[in-house]
Amino acid sequence: MVPAGPLSIAPLQQGAVDEAARLLARSMRDTPLHRRVFGSDEARLEPLLAAAFARLLGRQLRVGCVLAAREGDRLVGVAAMVPPGHCRPPLREAGALLAVLARGRALHRLPRIGRWLCTWARHDPRSAHWHMGPAAVDRAHQGRGVGTALMAALCERLDRLQGVGYLETDKPGNVRLYRRGGFEVVARRRVLGVDNWFMQRRPSGPVPDPHSIAGLRSGDSVDRSTPDSIATMRSSTRARRSASTGILSWSSGRR
Ligand SMILES: CC(C)(COP(=O)(O)OP(=O)(O)OC[C@H]1O[C@@H](n2cnc3c(N)ncnc32)[C@H](O)[C@@H]1OP(=O)(O)O)[C@@H](O)C(=O)NCCC(=O)NCCS
Repeated sequence: MVPAGPLSIAPLQQGAVDEAARLLARSMRDTPLHRRVFGSDEARLEPLLAAAFARLLGRQLRVGCVLAAREGDRLVGVAAMVPPGHCRPPLREAGALLAVLARGRALHRLPRIGRWLCTWARHDPRSAHWHMGPAAVDRAHQGRGVGTALMAALCERLDRLQGVGYLETDKPGNVRLYRRGGFEVVARRRVLGVDNWFMQRRPSGPVPDPHSIAGLRSGDSVDRSTPDSIATMRSSTRARRSASTGILSWSSGRR
């Protein structure tokens, strides 16, 4: 698909939460774990996921950082992370998610959802970390560097905060993507018969300015990136990383 304009990355606005949730649902309705947990009826799963992601993003906007990638006006990708102590939703949110499941006639999926989320929770690092996800790029725009740009923008924030990043994924292709950004696999387990990788990234760069932490959590540090600035960001991330840790960097020869 021809880009509808230059790529920009900026905090998601409250008014775009539903649109972002629908994008996440469209792109993630067939991930291996979602299929195992919810079955392969994607037409039924998509609205259920969209409702669940809308709740999740609403909370993540309040406590963490949600970035939107746009080409011109078109939303093409979303990626989020929440600060230490916010990995799992509070009880009242769990109640709201139960209502979403009930509306989607998916309450019978609860035992599988429970096994999935309990296994993930057991792997959460005990030390402070920023929990990353969800992340997705619109299907028609995948494979063109949007996901890399989103993750680079989140990692730049992690470096500023000197925060550890942590995520789970269920696709080997995603493991390659995250490895290029400096994430390392810290565990690998089968969840409901599906391979899952648990990945962590240590920060590089200077000690943070406390004001930047406040700014980031309130979501007001707008960061519009053109393709040029993304390239700069990628190469500076690569330079920092290879200088300090020697870990694999963002961006391969292809991008
Ligand atoms: C994973 C995802 C966010 C990556 O975004 P993207 O814009 O397609 O990725 P980029 O173009 O920046 O980078 C391409 C790399 O992403 C990975 N990738 C994963 N799924 C991919 C897909 N469907 N198409 C292209 N690349 C994909 C690969 O590592 C690829 O590198 P490779 O060419 O060496 O295999 C996006 O493909 C997506 O939304 N996938 C479906 C939902 C999902 O899996 N979300 C992540 C949950 S942890």
